[in-house]
Amino acid sequence: MKEISAFELDKNVFEMIGKDWLLVTAEKDGRVNTMTASWGSAGIMWGNPTAFIFIRPQRFTKTFIDNSEFFSLSVPGDEYRKALNYCGTVSGRDEDKIQGSGLTLEHVDGVPYFKEGKIVLICKKLFAQELKEESFLDKSVIDKWYPSKDFHTMYAAEIVKVLIQN
Ligand SMILES: Cc1cc2nc3c(=O)[nH]c(=O)nc-3n(C[C@H](O)[C@H](O)[C@H](O)COP(=O)(O)O)c2cc1C
Repeated sequence: MKEISAFELDKNVFEMIGKDWLLVTAEKDGRVNTMTASWGSAGIMWGNPTAFIFIRPQRFTKTFIDNSEFFSLSVPGDEYRKALNYCGTVSGRDEDKIQGSGLTLEHVDGVPYFKEGKIVLICKKLFAQELKEESFLDKSVIDKWYPSKDFHTMYAAEIVKVLIQN
């Protein structure tokens, strides 16, 4: 992997998040968990490149994100679609997903990520807030996406390192 500046990233962010999908990975007490995410964004906030991810309360990965200062977003190539589907349907509460996915766990600056990521964003949490029902201006969004009222928590995290495959 080689490090580049976030400003050098020439990937379409809509495609990267919405079509390629992300693996959100974090570590807690020496154990790593990961899950697939296809919602979020990347841009500038508080003067720096920042990633925004949205995690529902029941995700096991949420406990890892909440217990760590950092998490990573790995974007594997299409050849890893099976692993992405696995990480997006099985919970780390039931299985060791690192082993089950067949992906290769690595660390940089103590933060876990996957070697198979074509792009890897190392993110430092800055802000977390659960989406509040009363804040939705268009209530049809609640009907459509939150019939169980399991509102996402939004995390804004500074992108402190960007790695791409050589
Ligand atoms: C394509 C895809 C995208 C997903 N995007 C999100 C997301 O953005 N936020 C979220 O909370 N869950 C999302 N999920 C669901 C989690 O990945 C899934 O529930 C996973 O099994 C959680 O694992 P965990 O319990 O080990 O954290 C997505 C699933 C798939 C298949």
